Parts: sequence; C-alpha cells; structure tokens
Amino acid sequence: MHAAWGHRTVCGQVWAGLGPFPGKPGNPWAKLGVMDGLQDRKIILGVTGGIAAYKSPDLVRKLAAAGAEVQVVLSAGATQFVGVAALQAVSGKRVRQDLWDPDAEAAMGHIELARWADMILVAPATAHFIANLAGGQAPDLLTTLCVATRAPMVLVPAMNQAMWANSATQANRERLQQRGVRLLGPAFGEQACGDVGPGRMLEPAEIVAELDQQSSAPQQDLAGVRVLITAGPTREPIDPVRYITNRSSGKMGYALAAAAAARGARVTLVSGPVACTCPSGAQCIDVETAEEMYRAVMGEARDADIFIGCAAVADYRPAQAAPQKMKRKDASMSLELVRSPDVLASVAQLSPRPYTVGFAAETQALERNAGSKLKAKGLDLIAANLVGPKMGFDTEDNALLVLWPGGSKRLQRAAKSTLATQLMDLIVGRFKRVPRPIDMTGSD
Ligand code: PMT
Repeated sequence: MHAAWGHRTVCGQVWAGLGPFPGKPGNPWAKLGVMDGLQDRKIILGVTGGIAAYKSPDLVRKLAAAGAEVQVVLSAGATQFVGVAALQAVSGKRVRQDLWDPDAEAAMGHIELARWADMILVAPATAHFIANLAGGQAPDLLTTLCVATRAPMVLVPAMNQAMWANSATQANRERLQQRGVRLLGPAFGEQACGDVGPGRMLEPAEIVAELDQQSSAPQQDLAGVRVLITAGPTREPIDPVRYITNRSSGKMGYALAAAAAARGARVTLVSGPVACTCPSGAQCIDVETAEEMYRAVMGEARDADIFIGCAAVADYRPAQAAPQKMKRKDASMSLELVRSPDVLASVAQLSPRPYTVGFAAETQALERNAGSKLKAKGLDLIAANLVGPKMGFDTEDNALLVLWPGGSKRLQRAAKSTLATQLMDLIVGRFKRVPRPIDMTGSD
C-alpha cells in the first residue's frame, strides 16, 4: 500500500486544479451556473495558429464576463486566423505579439508579464506550439512567457485528428502533463478539413466552465466519508511470461479517486497494473490478478461507505498457470479458462454494504445491457460506457450513461476528470438520500 500527497497530475488529468480563489459577488455567470472561480484572475490568453483561433474573441469575452482580466498574446501563425483589432476591443488591452517590440516591452516586459499572470491559457494550442513547449523551446513571445512563468498552464489543443494521434504529439502531450500542464480536450467531431475524430477545440463556453470549476475550491461534502474504488485492468497469468489482460489504463478510476479525495473523502484505491500516479490524498493498494483485487477489496469493503467498481476485472483466468514458459509445439493449442471472482457482485451482497456503484463496458445495446447489470448485481447505480477502438478504454475523454433504479442521466463526452466530478456529483446526491451511519471521527 502506498499513499501520495500533493501530486497535481493524475494519469494525465490534473486535479488539485488551479488553487482556490476568493470569489466576489456580482459575477453575471453565477446566474448561469458558473461560479466565481475566475473572478479577478489575471489570465494570459495565448492564441496560436489554428483555424479555431477565430473563436478567441468570443473566448476573451466569456473570460471577461466571468470576471477575469485577460491579456492576449498571439503567435505569428494566429494572426492568419484572427484580427488583432477584435481581440484588442474585447480584452481592452493592447494585444502582444512580438518579443522584440520595444514599446510593449517598455510598458510591461515579458518577464513582468509572466509574473503578472495567475494562469496561462493557450487556446487553440497547435501541435507546433505543444512541441515547442514540450521541448522547452522559446522562439517567440508566447513560448518565452510559458517558459518564464510559474503560473499554472492550461492548453486547449486543436488540430487535425491525425496530427493529434501522431506519436510525437502524444509523447509531447505526456511530457507536458507530467510537468503539471493541464489539457482541456480536444473534443471529438467533424473538423475544418473534413476529417472526423479527436482534435476539435472545446467551445469557449466549455473552456470557461472547466476553468471556473477547477478554480473554485471543491466542496468538502465527502469529509469523513470512506470511498473504496477499483481501477485499471487485471493480469491473469498463463505462464511466468504471459498473461491475459485488457485495454484499461486506469485513467477513469484514478480520476474518480482524485475527485472523491478533492471533496474530502477518505479514499482507498485498489488498482491493477497501470502507469498512473496515486492521486493526492488517496491510499493506493496495487494488485495484479482478479483474485488479488477481490481479496484487497473484500478486506476494505466492510469499512467503506461508498464502493465504486471501475476496474476492468478479467471475467476468466487460465485454470492453471504453467510453472515454466510454455513451449511452442502444436499448430494450435487451447487454454482452459475458469471464472474469476466477481468483485462488484460480492460487495453488493455484503450486509450491511456500502453504497455500491458499478461500471458497464459495452460494445452495443448500452442501456439494455447496463440496466441488466444494475439489476442482476443489485447495484445502487451503474455508469455505462461504449468501448471500442479509441473509445472508453485508454482515452483522455469519455461519455457515460448513468442508471439507477428509477432514473438515468447522460453525461456528455468530456475529459475523464470532468466526467469524474459529474459522476461524483450524482453519486453524492444519491448516496446522501440513503440513511447509513458514517464515522466522522476517525483519521487515516
Ligand atoms: O481505465 P480506462 O482506460 O480509463 O477505461 C475506463 C473503463 C472503460 C475501464 C471504465 O470506464 C469501465 O467501463 N470500467 C468497467 C469495465 C468492465 O469490466 O466492465 P464490465 O461491464 O465487464 O463489468 C461490469 C462491472 O463488474 C464493472 O464495475 C466491473 O468492475 C465489475 N466486475 C466485472 C468482472 C469481475 N470479475 N469483477 C467485477 O467486479
């Protein structure tokens, strides 16, 4: 078991957010459900050279309406897609473009500007900009500011889907996220070039809502509540070098653990083998097989108030793991598989039991199959997702259909960290209706 404190990035999804910020009354966005997280924030909005740059005046307007002070910085490419005059008008500030502009530097030099910012937001962030930043390159004003700042950085990627999928871009994304840079999106959909896939910039309203949510201090509505979560795949050994597994990366389960911990819960995360970092404030138990996950969960479940089974647990394992590496002999071979324990169903059968939440990973008939699992396993709530190539498993974003006895809600495609917050909202809302004793006195 190990615990981790103070990490900001949870498997690609940044969690500790941008830090609480004292809000002020009178924010017009509050009426629209957007709170005061951006009130008085000083934001450098970097705009780089992608077609989505045409949306940046609207983004500036929405940031300003949410109470932020915005300084726009354009890359050379951005000027091909958006006018300086429009950005100047909506931000009320001279747009900065050039590292070597003596007038602008005399007003506020680039180092001063980097210190001024509470946050650097780059939207759209092109593959070229992301590559420069990942490599620590500073060929222009915007990249120089990014290298010079200590403020949190948020990138909103926008590019052709093949450029996003390119392994160099993905490696750069990973490097930046490991350094605590936060990414919003990209969204999936039709692109300016006619392709369909991930690479669209999030809409300005979505960007502002995401920033606002992360900037607001999370509610401590799970203080003292014990939340047990499973995440990741299991590995079922065939012999000492081979195993049966699946495509789960752990991202969804780790995002849920981070979301619960951010609300003050005492989180235990039982995880199969993944490359994610134990979220801040959670205790992590690493396991490998379904049997190990079952034992770890059953050892903790009686003390839990909420259980969330997000792991992709192998349904079957080899009846016998060969003690030595199996040799290649015949043209074909068969493996005898036996059922592995059903962790979720076993928790649901405990009495008393925690509020029990399952997931359903389906390739078809999402609602019908998930509804059957909800009933068959006797769950309180189930979150269903469609899985397949670039869907559900090992992706940055996802979409969920949440079902409970007598109700349902669709959570639209979003970053897994966002979905985790939304799903926790639903779980907390329903959990609080179920009377059960909660020990508020213990400490970890
Ligand atoms: O990890 P990521 O890459 O972020 O991907 C997220 C995810 C796709 C893995 C996640 O969103 C998800 O769907 N998790 C459940 C995967 C799964 O195994 O679904 P299922 O429909 O096969 O199982 C139904 C439920 O029973 C799940 O809650 C599962 O944890 C549980 N189960 C299944 C088999 C078993 N032996 N024991 C179990 O507890």
